[in-house]
Amino acid sequence: MKETIVSGIRASGKLHIGNYLGALKQFVELQNEGNNCFFFIADLHALTTPFEPKELSQNTLEVAADYLAAGIDPKKSTFFLQSQVLEHTELAWIFNSLTSLGELNRMTQFKEKSDQHKEGINAGLLTYPTLMAADILLYKPTGVPVGDDQTQHVELTRNIARKFNNRFGKTFPEPKTYLRKPLRIMSLSDPTKKMSKTGDEALMLDDSPAEILRKLKKAPTATDAKQESPGVGNLFLILEHFADKKTFKSFSRQQEDNSIKYSELKNALAKLIADHFANFRKKKQQLLARPDQIQDILVQGGTKARKVAQATLIEVKTKIGLI
Ligand code: TRP
Repeated sequence: MKETIVSGIRASGKLHIGNYLGALKQFVELQNEGNNCFFFIADLHALTTPFEPKELSQNTLEVAADYLAAGIDPKKSTFFLQSQVLEHTELAWIFNSLTSLGELNRMTQFKEKSDQHKEGINAGLLTYPTLMAADILLYKPTGVPVGDDQTQHVELTRNIARKFNNRFGKTFPEPKTYLRKPLRIMSLSDPTKKMSKTGDEALMLDDSPAEILRKLKKAPTATDAKQESPGVGNLFLILEHFADKKTFKSFSRQQEDNSIKYSELKNALAKLIADHFANFRKKKQQLLARPDQIQDILVQGGTKARKVAQATLIEVKTKIGLI
């Protein structure tokens, strides 16, 4: 059974291997299995926390190049920018009017982010989930692949769909969450925290082989393999995704019998990651050399997305009495 799939990534900086293994890789698989996929860059959502215009546009291009270099194929998937399909914000406004303040106040992400950004909590941060519901429901998908931090938003999306259907007649499906494997690639410098987009703690997809090795070399391990070490656990988690079974088993055995040399593990891992992304780096470089072409791809994707989005929005407006 072919599914209709919708998902987005916030335009908050280029992607690291945690984003790749946890999201992008699965998007490419879903696409190549022949599903009807809508993937977009959530640039409007990037406005809900502090941003700089120059960085925002650069980040958007970087993320677009990451998607494309990783294998998102604009011929197979509808690949676009959220801000270029105006229907997203229009439907979000309608959903704002159908959603109670209480529901939005209860969202964990809102509570967390407003704690982090005490200075300027904007209304967009509160209504983030209604825009996300619009992102999703415009395309009437059956599945939404997201990380576990986003399941509450998809739950709210289903509530909005249900409420809308009950009041105005069956319009939206209630899409299921495609929970991506709860994969927690941790920071290299502090393996008790999740890998994030800053500093030396993340392996970016386009890091050079030398850069990968440099970052891995700095990652903490353990002096004694018998010791429980989150750093070592994290290296093995990454190894499992990039090594063949034989290599993985061989290092696991060395770890068990305490004969492991972490410098060897790191060298091997650096080589595996560098090789895995060799093609990716080349493609991304070519893409970024021609930002106008990236823009063209996004504009074309936006045109494709709008056809679907417009039809849904017309249906919605008619049903709720906007003439
Ligand atoms: N909020 C998502 C995140 O931070 C990004 C996102 C925006 C999204 N709109 C979406 C994901 C719609 C799936 C569907 O990861």
